Amino acid sequence: MLGNSKLECLFLRIALALCILISCLSFGNAGITSTFIRSEWPSIDMPLDNDVFAIPKGHNAPQQVHITQGDYEGKAVIVSWVTPDDPGHNTVHYGTSDESYEFTAEGTVTNYTFYKYKSGYIHHCHVGDLKYNTKYYYKIGSGDSARKFWFQTPPKIDPDASYKFGIIGDLGQTFNSLSTLQHYMKSGGQTVLFLGDLSYADRYQFNDVGLRWDSWGRFAEKSAAYQPWIWSAGNHEIEYMPYMGEVEPFKSYIHRYLTPYLASKSSSPLWYAIRRASAHIIVLSAYSTFVKYTPQWHWLREELGRVDREKTPWLIVLMHVPIYNSNEAHFQEGESMQSVFESWFVKYRVDVVFAGHVHAYERSYRISSIHYNVSGDHHTIADKSAPVYITVGDGGNQEGLAGRFKDPQPEYSAFREASYGHSTLEIKNRTHAFYHWNRNDDGKKVATDEFILHNQYWGRNHRRRKLKKHIQMVIDEA
Ligand SMILES: [Fe+2]
Repeated sequence: MLGNSKLECLFLRIALALCILISCLSFGNAGITSTFIRSEWPSIDMPLDNDVFAIPKGHNAPQQVHITQGDYEGKAVIVSWVTPDDPGHNTVHYGTSDESYEFTAEGTVTNYTFYKYKSGYIHHCHVGDLKYNTKYYYKIGSGDSARKFWFQTPPKIDPDASYKFGIIGDLGQTFNSLSTLQHYMKSGGQTVLFLGDLSYADRYQFNDVGLRWDSWGRFAEKSAAYQPWIWSAGNHEIEYMPYMGEVEPFKSYIHRYLTPYLASKSSSPLWYAIRRASAHIIVLSAYSTFVKYTPQWHWLREELGRVDREKTPWLIVLMHVPIYNSNEAHFQEGESMQSVFESWFVKYRVDVVFAGHVHAYERSYRISSIHYNVSGDHHTIADKSAPVYITVGDGGNQEGLAGRFKDPQPEYSAFREASYGHSTLEIKNRTHAFYHWNRNDDGKKVATDEFILHNQYWGRNHRRRKLKKHIQMVIDEA
């Protein structure tokens, strides 16, 4: 016979075992927290005499060359560069052969001061009327200092245009940043969707701030001169530094990194939209006003109304601060924007929202909190109309990784890992896209998280039937 205390103890043990079993069952669909720990390089910026920051040879040679989309439709680019010694020419010579640069475009030049630092001469040149799906060669600078580059224009806007985007956030200029960039450049990505926090120059003081913007421009050139980087601004672009007399937000960023905001009827370079191949990409600014009735709120409402999923089925949003984040770092910083915009993301069936800011990787299931208008695990529900939220703030900057995740992993979180890397989104047609997150993994590119993204517009049953009918008609006509 068991004594009373022994019986109580047995019941307690059974009850405990049942509790553990029930809690295991309820998290049966919970996500993965990867335990991978990489032996990272130290999170320090590469020294200025590193080869990646080399100043091109020749007097006043153009440096920090980068391009971005220059219009709404993908038939223009903005070419930007810096000449260090004097203004030089604003001309871009370009053409479809690297032997004859038959066309020219004239740009503008600007400069700015930051504390006692004087920037070089920053050139921006709009190159328009380009043909789709064409390789263009371009030349800037003059005489012995001239430099040549090339880029490929996207296919024309078409619902079935295939296209591969890279996604990079919070890059900085450390050896880990270099590893991320090198891996991305081997990925076959055609355009970078950049999620904010470029240079981390604001981690420096006085004249070094400007110098680290220059070094970052030379570092990123190896990719950004050859394919568009679609820019969005992060907190490290704000540079509110009153102790140095610098209080104008985004001063360095806005002078150096132009965006085609006027083409999407935006009133600010910090929020805008582009259409490229089969995607409609919306860039938001987490560090500008966005509450109801502000310019950004009005603009987004109008822009979402302009999205035509019959032409650009893929609706992608970029912002710096994640709405869903289960990392200890920056926890709930996205709530204010969530309360204003999340219901629109669901209403307009956004496919995916990419964010940075948190220096780790995380992917959510399709979830929403719109019925409660606040975040928090118990308010968040599975929602087939909602976007997938992906945080890719793991470019490799000097602040290091955000390694502490909330425990237990919330049910909305599908996969999370604190490693450096980048993502790619390979759109195949109007219904499917392949998504990969690639961890740097000590020098090798390793595909770590992947899934097939089903389009939120064409995935619906009646449109699937309509599509089948359309394909059958094309086959019959053939
Ligand atoms: Fe950030």
